Amino acid sequence: MKGLILAGGKGTRLRPLTYTGAKQLVPVANKPVLFYAIEDLVDADIRDIGIVVGNTADQIMAAVGDGSRFGARVTYIQQDQPLGIAHGVKIAEPFIGRERFVLFLGDNFIRDGIVPLVDRFRAEDSHSLIILKWVPNPQDFGVAEVLGDRVVRLVEKPREPKSNLAVIGIYMFDHHVFQAVNAIKPSARGELEITETIQYLIDGGLKVAAPELTGWWIDTGKMEDMLEANRLILETFDTRVLGKVDADSRLDGKVVIERGAEVIRSVIRGPVIIGERTRIVDSFIGPFSSIYHDCLVTNSEVEHSIVLENSVIRDLDHRIADSLIGRNVEINRSPCKPKSYRLMLGDHSKVGLL
Ligand code: TTP
Repeated sequence: MKGLILAGGKGTRLRPLTYTGAKQLVPVANKPVLFYAIEDLVDADIRDIGIVVGNTADQIMAAVGDGSRFGARVTYIQQDQPLGIAHGVKIAEPFIGRERFVLFLGDNFIRDGIVPLVDRFRAEDSHSLIILKWVPNPQDFGVAEVLGDRVVRLVEKPREPKSNLAVIGIYMFDHHVFQAVNAIKPSARGELEITETIQYLIDGGLKVAAPELTGWWIDTGKMEDMLEANRLILETFDTRVLGKVDADSRLDGKVVIERGAEVIRSVIRGPVIIGERTRIVDSFIGPFSSIYHDCLVTNSEVEHSIVLENSVIRDLDHRIADSLIGRNVEINRSPCKPKSYRLMLGDHSKVGLL
């Protein structure tokens, strides 16, 4: 089997971060979310992996390389415009050929990996396997209408959902899928839809298995979901201190201090990860925070947040919480008069002031 990861797209829901960076490279517990997908495929012994890339191709290629450090061989497939998930599949046909494959959306995240699901698809004679997950808000997802153990209909973001079963962003197909993606037409939003692709297979009488997932799955396309994924992964960590912690600091609970990091006169209350060469000085870092590499947090408090590389948080009066802070961001007190907020924010930034 081969693997196909989609790592292009528009990323509108994660603006402004996605103006300059690929959303698939936003770190969850200090590891790009895309790397979890590659590792899940390799764990299922799928090592020949195609990655569909869009306008952030350079960043994705720089981060993943040829895949050898994951034990994989990666082929990049350029998608000139984000014309839909099924379009990503369509342009991957020369790479996939006649093999069966796993399609993995590069921002999707599943706790227990995909090994049992891939084993099931390998053992069965189905043409496709989709994975369903009970969700409280089905109107926000592609939803499956199920009769017994058969899927009869898939509807994208239905106004009146017939079930609470969302179709998650990990799918398995055989070569019949290429007939489908070549036959369907763009939807009202101008994309080739994966739900329509699977519906085409169902309507053609092909066998689509649809097991229900019991473990958690997160689509990290929005900030809140990123924070949730971060929280769930940090909870699984054990304490590991590779950097320096001075005698005036305290680590409570599960805390990972990566190589070259320094904690000085601070309290870190886990689960927390502090990235390489990051300095935490006279500060408090509270539960469920991931501070990435080369940051400085001084005289400030941060909790339940993700901070990307090279950012500085300095001398704040109030705690930062529930936040996703990008690369090279500076948050400082503004000492000069008049007493005011001084902001330089990118388009689509969101700020909550006290
Ligand atoms: P989505 O999150 O469905 O779409 P998006 O990335 O355009 O984001 P938004 O809805 O916030 O605007 O995409 C799921 C995954 O598939 C994600 O990793 C991006 C990728 N993708 C492509 O590679 N090509 C595409 O044409 C589309 C639509 C998505």
